[in-house]
Amino acid sequence: MTSRRRIAIVEGDGIGREVIPVAEAVLARLHPDYEFFPVDVGYGRWERTGCPCADRDIALLKSADAVLFGAITTPPMKDYQSVMLRIRKALDLYANLRPVRGDGFEILIVRENTEGLYSGIEERTDDRATTLRLVTRTGTERIVKAAIALARQRNGLLTIGHKANVLKSDVFFRDICIAEAESAGVSYNDKFIDALSLDLLQHPKNYSVVVTTNMFGDILSDVASYLVGGLGLVPSANIGDEHALFEPVHGSAPDIAGKNVANPIAALRSAAMLLDHLGDPEGSLRIENAIQTVLSAGILTRDLGGSTGTREFGEVVLTALCL
Ligand code: NAD
Ligand code: IPM
Ligand code: MN
Repeated sequence: MTSRRRIAIVEGDGIGREVIPVAEAVLARLHPDYEFFPVDVGYGRWERTGCPCADRDIALLKSADAVLFGAITTPPMKDYQSVMLRIRKALDLYANLRPVRGDGFEILIVRENTEGLYSGIEERTDDRATTLRLVTRTGTERIVKAAIALARQRNGLLTIGHKANVLKSDVFFRDICIAEAESAGVSYNDKFIDALSLDLLQHPKNYSVVVTTNMFGDILSDVASYLVGGLGLVPSANIGDEHALFEPVHGSAPDIAGKNVANPIAALRSAAMLLDHLGDPEGSLRIENAIQTVLSAGILTRDLGGSTGTREFGEVVLTALCL
């Protein structure tokens, strides 16, 4: 008998506190056998206690079989370190998978998640500020190997997104990606990230797996969400060799927080990705089917032109699960 799965739940800040309870309720309905435990990290915690995330919180996250994560607010203050970046590094969640599925296309953005411009190697004086864009061989090889494996599974094209016309670090990234793709025998192409961003919107069917560096992947995933109705719909998985964390692509959305209007679909789909990861593809499919049933009935949150609230949407999804 396998031991009981333990899922850490991080609601975080803003709409994280609204969409995660919806997703947790669905997981709990499908898996009464799972144990869920809360971990309180983020800006709200910092305001209350002066500490956004302690070492023991990282240990708690590491102790889980998987983490379901909402979003946390990162105020653009000089000395505030992003908790999300700390967690991704501490758990070595190097592959950020961001699927964007629409009518006739299925794009998977594979974003390097631990280095690049978000390496945290920064300096600021009165006169200048620098951020080092670190791209390592090890970091690049492991992300492109993950992307190649995913391209193989889908029998799809691997597109390498970079800015090698300007950045030496991206000549390095592109060359390693091409060498790995050739030795693996997968079909690939490469594009400059600016041109790629537009082409992806114009010709989404030409894409399958897109591998890119940290910040380009961050931006490209928000851009790509336009294809499917916006940020309320797109989930993500942060995967490492030891740990896994699932979260919507969107952030804490302070502009709509506390109003019961956030779309919980991205959080629900993140929960579905969590189930896939834990070996329950049927459960994952049940979540997606329930979402489709509810959408087809014209039940929509405000971002999609409807007026159903976050909680109410969650309740209809729970009902649809049992159909
Ligand atoms: P955001 O993704 O929070 O919001 C961007 C826009 O999309 C807003 O207008 C928002 O209302 C809308 N939106 C986002 N999610 C939605 C949903 N589920 N339903 C309906 N509308 C939705 O990005 P932002 O405003 O640039 O950032 C806000 C805060 O979130 C910042 O502090 C940022 O650092 C943080 N953030 C955190 C994460 C994370 O924890 N992983 C990710 C992105 C941003
Ligand atoms: C995301 C967010 C985060 C990122 C921030 C909040 C650190 O934008 O998950 O897309 O840049 O990865
Ligand atoms: Mn982002």
